[in-house]
Amino acid sequence: MKPKIIIDCDPGHDDAIAIMMATQLTEVLGITTVSGNAPLALTTDNALLLAELVDLDAEVHAGAGKPLLIAARHAEEAHGKTGLDGPTRPKISRSAASSDAVRFIIDTVRDNDDVWLVPIGPLTNIALAVQQAPDIVERVAGISIMGGSATVGNVTATAEFNVWADPHAASIVYGAGFQSFRMAGLNLTHKFGIDEQTISELREIDNRVALFAADLFDFYLTSYQKRTSGQRVPLHDPCAVLAITHPELFNFQNRAVAVETEGVYTRGMTVVDERGWGDKPLNCEVAYEIDRDKGMQIFIETIKAYTES
Ligand code: BDR
Ligand code: CA
Repeated sequence: MKPKIIIDCDPGHDDAIAIMMATQLTEVLGITTVSGNAPLALTTDNALLLAELVDLDAEVHAGAGKPLLIAARHAEEAHGKTGLDGPTRPKISRSAASSDAVRFIIDTVRDNDDVWLVPIGPLTNIALAVQQAPDIVERVAGISIMGGSATVGNVTATAEFNVWADPHAASIVYGAGFQSFRMAGLNLTHKFGIDEQTISELREIDNRVALFAADLFDFYLTSYQKRTSGQRVPLHDPCAVLAITHPELFNFQNRAVAVETEGVYTRGMTVVDERGWGDKPLNCEVAYEIDRDKGMQIFIETIKAYTES
């Protein structure tokens, strides 16, 4: 049986790929959107566009338009003004089912057994859901997030974008007491990058989803190479999906992880206790390694599966 998931996202090029993969590999109960890579109106439009592209049989609910306590910040340098720059935008006929993503998350978790939460944007919606309905923490099968890092940051030397964009929300979520909390941070996602060869493979597949993904990657790879010394642009968000569907690809270690909300140099940092003898509960299964070749093979297969549809 496919795992049931709610994707909480801010598309976003890598969010888009996570949605494409999750549609094939899981039972997506719904998509919720949050301000992050771009303002909420755009991330919601992008989620609707993707839901239509992959013919997803699930609703999109818009969520938080700003972080809990700080001003909204976006990632135009990585994802462009629209959050999904690159491909020509098709016309979309879908619209959001509601603007209350938090209600949708709470109701869906209460009405279904064994739901996985998959947050791949700032954690505002999830924090609000946990605050308003603490019972969902024990109701879910688990939470698999793309966020934080056990090593370097990206927006700052120490902070990863999703946690940095709403550190107060992240602090609530990391401290909520989820029984199964998987973390795909930058230390992991930097080992799961795509390059020109991946783009060529997608163009050869030549179905509508593959070509859209290839156009996304043309922009995403170029903008990454302009800003960094990296050759492969990390496919961050799909790692949070694969951590549920293919946990055998990963090496996880139980760690105590806390979020810095105040530091001058470290605000938004996930502080991962690597000592092995700390006194804090081991609240996270931190992913350290991924079998890139197998993960990429699964990615390509999920995109090929759209050929028949
Ligand atoms: C995360 O930030 C966003 O830009 C990506 O979509 C990903 O979720 C990586 O730091
Ligand atoms: Ca994202």
